[in-house]
Amino acid sequence: MSISQEVESKINIVELASRYLQMKKAGVNYKALCPFHTEKTASFVISPVKNLAYCFSCHHGGGPIRFMMEIEKMEFGEALHALAKEAGVELKTDYYKERGEKTGDIYDMHRIATDFYSEEILKAENIEKLNYLLKRGIAMETIDRFKLGYSGNPRELFARLKDKGFTEQNIIDSWIFVSPGRDKFYGRIVFPIANFAGHTVAFTGRITGTWEPKYLNSPVSDIFNKSAILYGFHLAKSTIAKEQSVIIVEGQMDTVALHQAGIYNAVGISGTALTKEHITLIKRFTKKLYLCLDGDKAGVEATFKSLENLYNEDLDIYVISLPDAKDPDEFIKSGGDFREETKKALTPIAFYIKEGAKRYDIAEMTGKKAIWEELKKMLKHIKNPIEIDAYIREIGKILNLSTDVLYSELKSFREKRIIDEVNIHNKFDRVELLAGYIRLYVLFDLFLEKFQYTLDDGICIPSFFVIKNLFSKRDIQGKNEEITHSEDTDRFSAIELYIEEENTTLSQDVITLKFLELVGYINKLCFEQEKKALLSDIDPNSAEYIIRHRELQEKAKNMGIKMNRG
Ligand code: CTP
Ligand code: MN
Repeated sequence: MSISQEVESKINIVELASRYLQMKKAGVNYKALCPFHTEKTASFVISPVKNLAYCFSCHHGGGPIRFMMEIEKMEFGEALHALAKEAGVELKTDYYKERGEKTGDIYDMHRIATDFYSEEILKAENIEKLNYLLKRGIAMETIDRFKLGYSGNPRELFARLKDKGFTEQNIIDSWIFVSPGRDKFYGRIVFPIANFAGHTVAFTGRITGTWEPKYLNSPVSDIFNKSAILYGFHLAKSTIAKEQSVIIVEGQMDTVALHQAGIYNAVGISGTALTKEHITLIKRFTKKLYLCLDGDKAGVEATFKSLENLYNEDLDIYVISLPDAKDPDEFIKSGGDFREETKKALTPIAFYIKEGAKRYDIAEMTGKKAIWEELKKMLKHIKNPIEIDAYIREIGKILNLSTDVLYSELKSFREKRIIDEVNIHNKFDRVELLAGYIRLYVLFDLFLEKFQYTLDDGICIPSFFVIKNLFSKRDIQGKNEEITHSEDTDRFSAIELYIEEENTTLSQDVITLKFLELVGYINKLCFEQEKKALLSDIDPNSAEYIIRHRELQEKAKNMGIKMNRG
């Protein structure tokens, strides 16, 4: 029997899967909604006899190790390591040691410090510190689960680390200590921050008094990437997968308080908005996300920022805003029922409108318009038409406005934005850009159709020769042929690359629209030249001037340009 077979034989797949799934008995087997794809009828089967957890629809899953790898997104070695530990099977190699001695050491140091701080808080001399947590409503069981501790004896911790074979330099390099006699969290309640796999990678320490700073955190390090870590995720992930939702709160105390209240799918961000890295991690487990950040100004801003990062992520997003701007910890302590608040959670649109209503009177037309202006700015980021549709309907309903009007308003707003984008090109001049579009997207014919002048007329515009050259080369080589290398090939390649980069996410229609804007621009330039030529030496009061002016006006109208006076 191989070592992995031995480990698997000692793991009960039903028990393992039940940590992540809500399972129902179906004959000798169990069934659950597949955690690896979205489905309405359960096709994920857990077989105790075969020791297998497998989806017959998406074909993910397998034995305990495979299941663990896929549900936890672990490598084989890591999953084997984790299950071997549970099965009590000793492995010859240590997965974390193998990944690099240095990283292993830092993990070890953090683990030793975590244990040390946990022991400290239980000592009689530190009873007041323990009481601080107990008074805040945190039970012993929760303290244990989150490994909350206290730093009261840095020298002893330092000695313990040295005993384990770490050098003074190693210990200082770990960022836990600032000097041999002083750890960074001295005198503070310590919250170990664990990574996805449950290994401590950093700490945050809270004072129990009133001085500042209230919290001190480990710095970002090889093992601690602040913007990727969610506090409590290792404890919450199985509930997140099971309940198919996650609640994001701000900070350690709020996370702990929610778990204490039986809300085990809560995780914390600290000092940042929800980042793209956080979102990637969450999406492996669920598609439904509740934001419940602080109700103060900073919290509302962090909510807006987080929502921005959540656009186009294909997630169902809700915002919980607790009454009286309380944080979840205060809310629970004042006797509030958090689950009830979850049911009252707002959609992002409703949240935007609710926040907007603090500044504008949405019963009034001016207020509706002002809020709509802000909503448009948000909607412009959304790519999926189904989402846009749902949002517009919701806005129409809340603000009591017709969705038709909102749609056409949004459409002209989006188009105007595209024009603005075209107008801010400064790396290349617009005529060059236009040439780039023509060549890159093979728009020769469309250009000839939309350009209101001849190629010879165009020469009155600076750098129009680039376009003219393009056409003469095409004529020599035949339509759509690759243009041979010449001096301006590099310049052209750069322009094309620039356009490609800028347009990667745009649809063909939008690209064409941008192209037409550029054609419109040179039409206008040519028109201005023509106007100058036709009117410059004629008496503005003569009949001839008036006739020509009228003709020009007509022409301008047909080209869709606004004619300047004079
Ligand atoms: N924070 C920090 N440094 C500070 C203050 C806050 O790193 N000086 C971070 C912490 O992660 C904290 C979060 O920001 O949890 C939210 O801050 P705040 O709302 O002030 O603290 P609470 O979470 O409410 O903590 P407590 O209830 O213990 O006061
Ligand atoms: Mn608080």
